[in-house]
Amino acid sequence: MLKIGNVKLKNRLVLAPMAGVTNLAFRIVARWYGAGLAFSEMVDADGMFYDIQRRKKEFATNAEDAPIACQLFGARADTLAEAAKRVVDMGADIVDMNMGCPSFKLSRKNAGAKLLSQPELVGVLVRSVVSAVDVPVTVKIRSGWDSVNAVEIARVVEAAGASAITVHARTAKMMYGGAADWEVIKRVKEEVGIPVIGNGDVASPLRAREMLDETGCDFVMIGRAALGNLFIFRDCVEFFEKGTVMVEHTKEERQRALLELWEVCKSVGDARLSDLRMHACWFSKGLTGGRRFREEVGTKKTVAELEELVVENFC
Ligand SMILES: Cc1cc2nc3c(=O)[nH]c(=O)nc-3n(C[C@H](O)[C@H](O)[C@H](O)COP(=O)(O)O)c2cc1C
Repeated sequence: MLKIGNVKLKNRLVLAPMAGVTNLAFRIVARWYGAGLAFSEMVDADGMFYDIQRRKKEFATNAEDAPIACQLFGARADTLAEAAKRVVDMGADIVDMNMGCPSFKLSRKNAGAKLLSQPELVGVLVRSVVSAVDVPVTVKIRSGWDSVNAVEIARVVEAAGASAITVHARTAKMMYGGAADWEVIKRVKEEVGIPVIGNGDVASPLRAREMLDETGCDFVMIGRAALGNLFIFRDCVEFFEKGTVMVEHTKEERQRALLELWEVCKSVGDARLSDLRMHACWFSKGLTGGRRFREEVGTKKTVAELEELVVENFC
């Protein structure tokens, strides 16, 4: 039985947290396609105390969205602990702590990946959240801040009581450039007893299998490869279970998947023109006529106009 703490998971496939993308609708559809666990967009722990409406929007969930890891960012033990209690009350099955985001928006507050340069503080923060909630607490890190220290951080995180650790195998300094160094995931896995979620550059079922085999990690987290391509979870399931390799998805399949996602966006009350534009562009990537379609997407001024384009003239 696959588990993180006491939370049971149906497979080894995890949807990555992606700010501006992995909202409730996106997560629900990712699960339909096979994701066994999904992470929310990152939620500002300090913001819980002054902009609760915005936080509620960032972390809306429902019964179809389980199991769900709600990701918090922050650098203060007291607010992180209090925010963790609140998101558990709001439905989180797992509380995840962001120690991997390299953006200045977080690092100027000493949060995100900046914490990796302060192992002692990492321990304090994780202990504080673990003691505040009854659900499993997980931590998402990078290989390090400007140099690799993931193994040291992983030991601290485990000793502080976390139930799993995600390793995005790039330093913060690398941002998204260069190749992820999976060797770091392997070393973390060898060092700790808690489940390890490997992350970085998994863009196909074969790469997912390779990450599991080469690093020994317990779960594989997929981010960018799921943009406009939620099929990747189903393709991984098919490949893991039957060895079937899906070569490509047709224009019709992509159009259907886009409209399906859009219907869910509408049903959960999260259907903004900007989101439909973003998904329409991603789902058309690589298709003949995709460029012309994306240019037209940019000219549509209302959701109704854009929907009509997707239905009647998708690539
Ligand atoms: C648009 C976007 C938003 C992201 N937002 C978050 C976030 O909120 N929290 C986080 O821990 N990582 C975030 N990430 C990083 C991803 O979770 C993941 O670690 C990274 O993309 C590497 O995985 P991949 O190669 O499968 O994309 C984001 C990545 C992207 C592309």
